[in-house]
Amino acid sequence: MRIRRKPHAKQMVQEHPRVVKEPEQLRGKWHTLFGNDRPIHLELGTGKGQFLSRVCQDRPAVNWIGVERIEEVLLHALKKAEETPCANLRFLWMDVNRLDEIFAEGEVERIHLHFSDPWPKKRHARRRLTHHTFLHRYKKVLEPQGEILLKTDNSSLFDFSLEELETTGFTIVESTRDLYHSPYVRGNIPTEYEQKFTARGVPIHYLLAKPTGDFSSTR
Ligand SMILES: C[S@@+](CC[C@H](N)C(=O)[O-])C[C@H]1O[C@@H](n2cnc3c(N)ncnc32)[C@H](O)[C@@H]1O
Repeated sequence: MRIRRKPHAKQMVQEHPRVVKEPEQLRGKWHTLFGNDRPIHLELGTGKGQFLSRVCQDRPAVNWIGVERIEEVLLHALKKAEETPCANLRFLWMDVNRLDEIFAEGEVERIHLHFSDPWPKKRHARRRLTHHTFLHRYKKVLEPQGEILLKTDNSSLFDFSLEELETTGFTIVESTRDLYHSPYVRGNIPTEYEQKFTARGVPIHYLLAKPTGDFSSTR
């Protein structure tokens, strides 16, 4: 993603009402922010926010939170969010590696990973959002029956993710290498990257994983 640096982006993000300030203070009590007990779904690496600005309206019975670390990118998502009436949408300006400082055990129902950066070089594998160090964090904050939903155009990242999920104590419950020619496409909301890839005819890989019953892990 090409990023145009903006001198006031940090301040604009910090002051925006949809960005949660001191989110660590809400650990274990996120329902107080939303004023209800509805399930929390996260989009990690939310980018310019196309998915969230649509899904918050289509699925109002869920509290949606987007996590993005680049302020200039987050500003786009915030602008889109301003155009929605959604009271169930917030953003976190931070790195995903802080997730378990922000959410308590079992506080999240679903994690969406949409077109995460593939980091193709082996020496950068730890940066992939499905590296087992991230997956262990996700497993901590997910409900026992929680879910990870992943979409990507990148078959190497998909293969890597399947392997990491299985060895970190997740069970793959749905999977396809061509989402748009599969039954799982029903109700799918495309992200910005997804639209670009599908317009070029690139097949979208999709999976849904759940923590394995006994939380056993081979790592
Ligand atoms: C390729 S974009 C995909 C954007 C969007 N999900 C979509 O499908 O259109 C990946 C985004 O993830 C963000 N990102 C990558 N690693 C991250 C991390 N560790 N913490 C927070 N955001 C991250 C990047 O800044 C970028 O905006």
